[in-house]
Amino acid sequence: MDRLTGHACEALFDKACEWIPGGVTSSARKLSPPLVFREAHGAYLTDADGRRYLDYHAAFGPALLGHNHPAVNRRVIETLDHASLYGAGPTELEIEVARKLHQHVPCAEKVQLCTSGSEAVFNAVRVARAFAGRTKLIKFQGCYHGTYDSVLMNVASAPEKIGRPDPGSAGILSAVIENTLVSAYNGLSEVEQALTAQRDQVAAVIVEPIAHNMGCVMPKPGFLKGLRDLATRHGALLIFDEVISGFRHHLGGYQAICGVRPDLATFGKAIANGFPLAAICGGAEVMDHFNSRPGGDTCFAGTYHGHPLGCAAALATLDMLEHEPVHEHIFRLGERLRNGLREIHGRLGTGATVAGFGSVFTTYFGPGPFENYNDCLRSDAAKVVDYRQRLIARGIFEMPTNLKRGHIGYSHTEADIDRTLAAADEVLKEMFVS
Ligand SMILES: Cc1ncc(COP(=O)(O)O)c(C=O)c1O
Repeated sequence: MDRLTGHACEALFDKACEWIPGGVTSSARKLSPPLVFREAHGAYLTDADGRRYLDYHAAFGPALLGHNHPAVNRRVIETLDHASLYGAGPTELEIEVARKLHQHVPCAEKVQLCTSGSEAVFNAVRVARAFAGRTKLIKFQGCYHGTYDSVLMNVASAPEKIGRPDPGSAGILSAVIENTLVSAYNGLSEVEQALTAQRDQVAAVIVEPIAHNMGCVMPKPGFLKGLRDLATRHGALLIFDEVISGFRHHLGGYQAICGVRPDLATFGKAIANGFPLAAICGGAEVMDHFNSRPGGDTCFAGTYHGHPLGCAAALATLDMLEHEPVHEHIFRLGERLRNGLREIHGRLGTGATVAGFGSVFTTYFGPGPFENYNDCLRSDAAKVVDYRQRLIARGIFEMPTNLKRGHIGYSHTEADIDRTLAAADEVLKEMFVS
């Protein structure tokens, strides 16, 4: 049987396509050839044909502790036994999640909970607009902030679309497109020019503090602090979208590492190790605009907000991060993997650049530096896909898509990393030597 796909996977995917457009319920999940996963434990996935994969995809990042983590599952099952979605008043679980985020996240004077990262960003942008009394938003080329119209602009742009509005979907109103301005990541002077040109019109600057949607583009020294200063000087809010970086890199988010305090920050993914929960954190003056508070002018509502199972999973995850050496472990393994990959690429002369931070890694098949989206276009997409498909054939799963990052979790071991390096060595020899 072909390792890349099997009879059961293909048959299930064909069925999926009968009723689900394209066979997947989120467009970035498309896989060719198709795989259908059936089980996940710790660092491993099993597909419908019974094949096991060492997983670095981590469902795009949530599986920080590993899949089906026993402590998280236990807490969720206990909660399931007695709690329900009440839809009236706060719950003790929500209060505890909010208290913990307030305790750990520097900007979190107040906290609101919702269900997905997209929803968190949407509400953060809306409350920023309400607070500032302005409409425009500055985002960065190559950063992704979810599926809502205002931010679904200039993400994975084709080279000819860079430098002009590039909506990521049909159906977005032109008024929305006009109100989102796009700058190059790490390009402080471009942001300054935009803020000056749009005097008193920019409500917020939104940024991934590490641009993980371009793989792993790090902020240059002074970039985030520079954004902070520019936003303050021009009366705009600074929003850190920490949907990927939050909890994966530090209990307090990347803001706790870089020492720059945004006005608002959004969290999702790793907060609940794979259960649906997301959060918006920020200064009280801004957050009190939400109409969950009497007199607030900004709608904040959702049937599933602060869902008890998501909250239970978040509390168990945060508890693990507080009491176990999770970050120490995943950062150490991240270093081991990146150093090993660099040694292989150097020895084989592939010309590739291995990048990453903490538990996140990626390989750009091209020469560095990688400081913005234009730089990322130097990575040979066909080689990235080929490399990852060859790894999949050897039972190691990274999403076979250009510019997607890999994630190490608490359940990965040194032996897993070493096995990955041995497989990468084999694959890269096939690609570059023979
Ligand atoms: C930085 C960032 N923000 C927001 C989102 C949207 O989160 P969700 O997919 O949970 O809606 C994503 C998703 O990948 C993301 O990477």
